[in-house]
Formats: sequence, structure tokens, C-alpha cells
Amino acid sequence: MSTKVYFGGGPCGGHGGFRPREVAQYPDTGRRLGTDPYGRAIRDHHHGEQADPLYDVDGGRRRDHPIAEFYFGAFRAESDAGAWLAEQLAGPLLDLGAGAGRHALYFQREFETVAVDRSAHLVDLMGDRGVEDTREVSMFSLREAFGRDRFRSVLSVGTQLCLAGSMQGLRRLLCDLAYVTTADGRAVVDSYDPSVATTADTFGFRPDPTPGLAYRVYHYEYGEDTGPELLFRLFSPDRLREAAAGTGWRVSVRRHGPSGGSQYRAVLRKRGAG
Ligand SMILES: C[S@@+](CC[C@H](N)C(=O)[O-])C[C@H]1O[C@@H](n2cnc3c(N)ncnc32)[C@H](O)[C@@H]1O
Repeated sequence: MSTKVYFGGGPCGGHGGFRPREVAQYPDTGRRLGTDPYGRAIRDHHHGEQADPLYDVDGGRRRDHPIAEFYFGAFRAESDAGAWLAEQLAGPLLDLGAGAGRHALYFQREFETVAVDRSAHLVDLMGDRGVEDTREVSMFSLREAFGRDRFRSVLSVGTQLCLAGSMQGLRRLLCDLAYVTTADGRAVVDSYDPSVATTADTFGFRPDPTPGLAYRVYHYEYGEDTGPELLFRLFSPDRLREAAAGTGWRVSVRRHGPSGGSQYRAVLRKRGAG
């Protein structure tokens, strides 16, 4: 789990604000402490070498993680959701938390696409699958990795943005996204919406009395390896708007996905852009 350390500064002022510091906290299970069982399992799946299920684990609950369904379905630009997504994006594109590269494989045929993930296993896997420009970069180190105005659009789907962990962390990340995108840039991001009742059924859900906010907490297990505990801050569209205030983004929202409307995608457009 990452903890946030506050260094001071306004929402987008320099490099101040909340920065994630990697502090691994492992449950005391006596199991081997793997650094990335998640990425390793997905890579093994691709190579036909997956010996064990990948489990999502929340205390006594465990769920078989559906690797094929989540990461290896081809992006379908002809579907409604696919066409909508393609309309939002332009090159150069940053695919942030690109996983097995299902979006990058499509969009790199249209324009320059840079696919980043923090998992070295997944970066290798994307290369094996034909993604041309892959980088092992954390979304919490964007300013270190890329210059100002480097991208015209950013795609971050899979709710990894929630790993910002707090409203302050989310605001900081939105500032960094604004920094690496052009004045007419856009970003597509997603979350589960805590203000929708069915979101409470999501694996690892933890309620929060504050309207529009909740958490998810779980970790991955693969074979003998246990990954770090993951803390997701779930935010409603209104909370995303609140976090975006002062970061240069305006937010519009589209409901998405099969899970009773609990997931949504948001388009961030630069204030002042058409
Ligand atoms: C649910 S997957 C989504 C993958 C892909 N976007 C897709 O739609 O198939 C979330 C991805 O975010 C990545 N991720 C998690 N934390 C990250 C971080 N700090 N920086 C970059 N990627 C991260 C994970 O390794 C994983 O590949």
C-alpha cells in the first residue's frame, strides 16, 4: 500500500502537495511476499504458463481474477463504447496503466501511443504482444518521466486512478496529467461511483460516511506470492469535479459498463479549450 506524505503547496504548485511514497505493508500470513504476483500471473497466462489462479483477497474472501476477460479482449472500436472512446482520443496518446496493452495495440495504428505501466512483467508482456512504445513508469511519477505538453490525450481505464488513495492524491495526479498534456488536451479516466447503491457489491468495498466517497481494499495472491495491500479511493463524478477544481480540467461524465451503472468514465477537457 502507498502512503501519502504531505509536503505543502497548492493544487498544482510545483511539485508540492501529496506525493505517494511506496511503503509496502504485507499481511502477516507467513506467505512469500512477492512484489508483483498480479503482473506475473497475467504474463504467465499469456505464455500458457499460468500454474495457479490469480486471487483477489479481502480478509477471508477471495475471488478468482478473470484474467482473460479483463485484459485480453480486443478493443472494439465499432462498439458504442469503443466509438465514443476513440472520439475522445488523439495522438500523441499516453495509455496510463496499460495492462496487457489492449487499447495501445489498437490506438498505435492510429497515432503515436506510449503505453506505461508500473509492472515490469506487464511492460514485457506488452512488448511481446506487439505494443511498440512501452515504458515502466508509475502514474505517480509523470513529471519525472515526461515533459510539459508531451501528450494530446491520456487514457486511464481500469480504475487505477483510484490508487491515488485520497482526494488530495487525486488532485495531485490531475495536476500532473494537466502538466504532461497540451492546452487542448483531453483525458479519459474512470471509477466506481460510491453514490450508486450497487457499488457496495464491488469486491473489497468499504463504505465511507462522506457522500460520494468510499474505498476498496484487497491484495493479490498467485501461487506462493502475496502482493501488497491495495487501497483504492472511489470517487463519485461530483467528487471528481471537486478534485479537479484548480487543476485546469473540466469534467464531463458518461456511465459505462455492465455492472448496473456503478462504473463511469469521465472526459477531462482543459478549461479554455473548445
Ligand atoms: C485494471 S488494469 C487496466 C489495464 C488496461 N488499462 C485495460 O483497460 O485493460 C490496471 C492497470 O494499472 C496498472 N497500475 C497500477 N498502479 C499503477 C501505477 N502507479 N502506475 C502505472 N500503472 C499502474 C496495473 O499494473 C494494471 O496494469
